[in-house]
Amino acid sequence: MNSRHPASFATRAIHFGHDPAQHEGALTPPLHLTSTFAFDSAEAGAALFAGEAPGHIYSRISNPTLDLLERRCAVLEGAEAGVALASGMGAICSVFWTFLSPGDEIITDNTLYGCTFAFMRHGLAKFGITITHADLTDPEALRDALSPRTRIVYFETPANPNMRLVDIAAVSAIAKAHGAKVIVDNTYATPVLTRPIELGADIVVHSATKYMGGHGDLVGGIAVGSAEDMTQVRLVGMKDMTGAVMAPFNAMLVLRGLKTLKLRMERHCASAMTVARMLESHPAVAKVYYPGLESSSQHALAKRQMPGFGAMIAFELKGGLAAGRTMMNRLEMIRRAVSLGDAETLIQHPASMTHSTYTPEERAAHGISEGLVRLSVGLEEVEDIQADLTQALRAPASLAA
Ligand SMILES: Cc1ncc(COP(=O)(O)O)c(C=O)c1O
Repeated sequence: MNSRHPASFATRAIHFGHDPAQHEGALTPPLHLTSTFAFDSAEAGAALFAGEAPGHIYSRISNPTLDLLERRCAVLEGAEAGVALASGMGAICSVFWTFLSPGDEIITDNTLYGCTFAFMRHGLAKFGITITHADLTDPEALRDALSPRTRIVYFETPANPNMRLVDIAAVSAIAKAHGAKVIVDNTYATPVLTRPIELGADIVVHSATKYMGGHGDLVGGIAVGSAEDMTQVRLVGMKDMTGAVMAPFNAMLVLRGLKTLKLRMERHCASAMTVARMLESHPAVAKVYYPGLESSSQHALAKRQMPGFGAMIAFELKGGLAAGRTMMNRLEMIRRAVSLGDAETLIQHPASMTHSTYTPEERAAHGISEGLVRLSVGLEEVEDIQADLTQALRAPASLAA
């Protein structure tokens, strides 16, 4: 960042790493739609491959458009370096494949996004990795769970779908004293609301499909951490093991999304708070999970760790799953869809959709109730979101037990 650009989040999200003077005055960074890069000479190509000279070789390893996105994401997360990947799952898989060996153990929170849960329980477990779940909402539970084989401590905060929070500083201190790497999925919070590296985590992963892209028009992933770790993720997990590199066009869309990330998160958070309060006071609603509510058992941690509480809300109706389905089917403006962080308000039913990778018994054990409904509060006028929910929650269906 040069001295003309103050180091505030919103300004960096717009300017960091791009100098129009170096690109024929182009205000918007150029899109490098190229799979490969020509070498000046055979010797120059060999020097690039040997890591003796800087430069690009092939877009599965690096690309200038991705490079700008990676550096911008790293600075926004307070990290040294980043890697842009094909999806959030591409980021998670590439990071894990980089650092794990057979016999290692991962300790992870009880609640995980459904495909991350499946990747660990059905994927990594096949290759001799032990997956141990612990209630990481209690940092002491981590201390009890750690073993000499623990290599990685992994969690989401807030967790998808039930909004559990993890005290990043407390858990990171315990894990790192033990020599384990702390990896945090920061998709729900975004670096606007939480910067896990500044609180002691080693690596942050994102589904850039969500708030970072922000417009529901791409699938992408980001990992950030130390320069050393990110070089490993790039050259081992991404280049050789998953090949899950982000497409340059998607990198351009994420760069565009980042320009409004702070602005969007402010509006998302304000609307979600209003909607959470409305749901909490509605007679058809049994329970609302939103860390911004005073009734949340983790409200104190939320206030300490997050300047805003995000825009994801989970709730249960008194009429259970049947009432939840009736309510979802009555919605007129709110879209029934998975994903989150878009301008459109989205609603889905985790047990039959995003978390159907768990068995019913696993969902019960991992705190994901069958009747839970997940709402991603969008950027429409909040009155319109409230009005649609109110008409969909009308009696009698929503009140029928
Ligand atoms: C918390 C979280 N992490 C990771 C992912 C995976 O991201 P992607 O769909 O971009 O692969 C998702 C997707 O919903 C998610 O919600």
